[in-house]
Amino acid sequence: DVIDVKDILAKDHFTFDPGFMATAACESKITYIDGDQGILLHRGYPIAQLADQSDYLEVCYLLLNGELPTSEQKEEFVKLVTNHTMVHDQIRKFFDGFRRDAHPMAVMCGVVGALSAFYHDALDVNNVDHRNITAIRLVAKIPTIAAMCYKYSVGQPFMYPRNDLNYAENFLYMMFAVPADVDYKVNPILAKAMDRIFTLHADHEQNASTSTVRLAGSTGANPYACIAAGIAALWGPAHGGANEAVLKMLDEIGSVDKVPEFMEKVKTKEVKLMGFGHRVYKNFDPRAKVMKETCDEVLAALGINDPQLELAMKLEEIALNDPYFVDRKLYPNVDFYSGIILKAIGIPTSMFTVIFALARTVGWISHWLEMHSSAYKIGRPRQLYTGSLQRDFTPLDKR
Ligand code: ACO
Repeated sequence: DVIDVKDILAKDHFTFDPGFMATAACESKITYIDGDQGILLHRGYPIAQLADQSDYLEVCYLLLNGELPTSEQKEEFVKLVTNHTMVHDQIRKFFDGFRRDAHPMAVMCGVVGALSAFYHDALDVNNVDHRNITAIRLVAKIPTIAAMCYKYSVGQPFMYPRNDLNYAENFLYMMFAVPADVDYKVNPILAKAMDRIFTLHADHEQNASTSTVRLAGSTGANPYACIAAGIAALWGPAHGGANEAVLKMLDEIGSVDKVPEFMEKVKTKEVKLMGFGHRVYKNFDPRAKVMKETCDEVLAALGINDPQLELAMKLEEIALNDPYFVDRKLYPNVDFYSGIILKAIGIPTSMFTVIFALARTVGWISHWLEMHSSAYKIGRPRQLYTGSLQRDFTPLDKR
């Protein structure tokens, strides 16, 4: 016998909503999405305007504080973040415990989770100063940690952050400079593209990883543990792992003439077209529009003629005109283009999701701060039990 689920559903205040298709788990003033119209606003400002006229650290200030900064506030914020980019020296040693061939996301998840063991001077979630300094520490240190994950994986020495460079430049410097190359210069076109990728990934309301951060945070868990939980959730190929999966898929398809064959596999549901589709956007992803422009700019500026890009464009063209995709409202999402840009910048595929996590850290911590700034309840979803009714235990010799 099993419980009749109709009885449970008939009870008051009980909804069954797998995948949270229609359940709001919180109130938020940070980000607004209208999936049907392809609108994304941060604190009311359209993402395309922010991507064109602002920069990542200004968007970080906006997400964290609710308003755009004045020039003085911006200067102070940039200085504060810049002053916190170094990590505790013992973190270098912590890296040594990981295998060099580990996936950088695995290492990042472990290192960020361990930050509470290095910065335990400010872990009281009820103390507003502790919460604020933790937000700054996370935004400031996450590029350093991300670059360390890369350097560790390729066996190169870690590069210390440089305070004379901006956020994106400093990240590219820590990724690609080596100590012997004293004249290393960051390409400004690549730094601008990197800053834009960060901006376009900064927040996206209650996606799987942000919801994970809020759920973990609702127990009062320390913020570094919550962000590590967010990083773990982001890693999945249906979420932040998609940018890496797009490039793998392009590799597997191989050439433009194989696209029709691949599309047949998509339609018979053998494979998914990675970088397409979105739970909320059922028209277009406004981030994908800006990302495509950046993609064109970067490839033109670098003079790259990439056969993978040609393949990606062919896939896009076919999918946008195919009734299978049109009927299901499947459009390219932000990850479809970001992977191509990251590749052009010279970032290895295994680092793609690390970069997404870097950029999204400010969104996660903004939601965590918002949750802690007013009363909240521990997140505790219910379930629809469909197992056995109560029955008596059968001793081992009677089974
Ligand atoms: N390729 C082929 N078919 C797809 C795809 C895809 N990428 N995405 C959805 N579909 C199909 C489904 O098979 C389903 O078809 P059906 O109606 O015949 O059963 C229909 O479209 C609806 O799809 P759902 O799975 O119900 O959509 P859901 O909202 O649950 O999933 C998701 C959204 C997870 C993003 C999905 O589109 C997907 O897996 N896309 C590929 C991975 C990806 O690019 N993820 C990045 C998301 S953006 C981000 O995280 C920043």
